[in-house]
Amino acid sequence: MYRILKPLLFCLPAETAHRLTLSALKYTPSALLPQFGFASPSLKVTLWGRHFPNPVGLAAGFDKNAESLNGLFHLGFGFIEAGTVTVKPQAGNPRPRVFRAPQYNAVINRMGFPNCGVAVFKDNLRKFLEKKPRPMGVLGLNIGMNKDQTEPAKDYTALVRSLAPMADYLTINISSPNTPGLRNLQEKGPLTDLLTAVLAERKASCGEFPPPLFVKLAPDLTDQQIDDIASVLLSLKIDGVILGNTTLSRPDHLPADFREQKGGLSGAPLTDLSTAVIRRFYTVTKGQIPIIGVGGIGNAQEAYAKIRAGASLVQLYSNLIFQGPSLPSMINAGLVDLLRRDGFNHISEAVGADHREILENTNNVQLA
Ligand SMILES: Cc1cc2nc3c(=O)[nH]c(=O)nc-3n(C[C@H](O)[C@H](O)[C@H](O)COP(=O)(O)O)c2cc1C
Repeated sequence: MYRILKPLLFCLPAETAHRLTLSALKYTPSALLPQFGFASPSLKVTLWGRHFPNPVGLAAGFDKNAESLNGLFHLGFGFIEAGTVTVKPQAGNPRPRVFRAPQYNAVINRMGFPNCGVAVFKDNLRKFLEKKPRPMGVLGLNIGMNKDQTEPAKDYTALVRSLAPMADYLTINISSPNTPGLRNLQEKGPLTDLLTAVLAERKASCGEFPPPLFVKLAPDLTDQQIDDIASVLLSLKIDGVILGNTTLSRPDHLPADFREQKGGLSGAPLTDLSTAVIRRFYTVTKGQIPIIGVGGIGNAQEAYAKIRAGASLVQLYSNLIFQGPSLPSMINAGLVDLLRRDGFNHISEAVGADHREILENTNNVQLA
């Protein structure tokens, strides 16, 4: 089916195609939605007391206003991250601001958090959460600050206060390249201050059962920055980390007219870079903070590489555009084969497997 739809969608500007997709998922009755689920006991993950039917999630940015969650869960995702939502509605950057390079499975966007604001977001969420039966899967909410906010902690704490009761987890997005100054919040001092304020707010507003809190980082961090951030997240006992957002880098092989677009690059050219950041982060934290790996995943092998590098769960966005709605279930089916190939009974056994293999090889060399 997607083979027929794809050429039509690719005739349209990227955002128009996206809007059509969201509307189709929003207005099609559940009974008529295609079911792409793939279930296997070896893929079920329990983390932070949350039950993920499978480890493949939809990354933030696809459903910014939480308006098409029911339809998106029908595509077989184990979890969906809605947002990024900001306190006030905002229009984002002028269009065009999303660019596709289908022959490279790559996207550049400079959207700048266009969204309807937290009030509409909450209305949409309420409608979804009241739905009976609610589709299986975990719902994360990704929060960001308005472009004109000069005191970031004010927006983030307001959003935690407002959204925590509705979230299975919350993600602090400090890594979009399209909001001026946002990525500076990844520096040690500002990061510590922001997360301390957010954690205090979560404690004050959520009582006994607060949702786990994740931080979403850029893939463009130096090793030193990764080490610094890891020490902050460990000392503040942050529950999880999402690695990562889009990149400002531009591999040489991309065509000039595409790579010259300003914004964050995602899709295939990001695959190895994001896996390298996951590997580094897992090493410096000794696997103590669960990682959600995201960046360029387009097949089971690429998802599995991130899991072996240290990711407990994965997410994707760009390749859904290029490969269509069956992608999450294709990846899940492929993961089951890869686990079997490597002699693992369950996905959790594969998390960080590369690191253990390196250690075993080193020990064997020392013994020989
Ligand atoms: C058009 C577009 C919009 C995005 N918007 C957001 C966003 O609002 N918040 C966010 O945290 N990430 C956003 N992202 C980043 C994705 O969540 C993801 O981290 C990144 O695209 C890498 O994954 P991928 O290569 O599978 O797309 C966006 C990505 C794209 C392509």
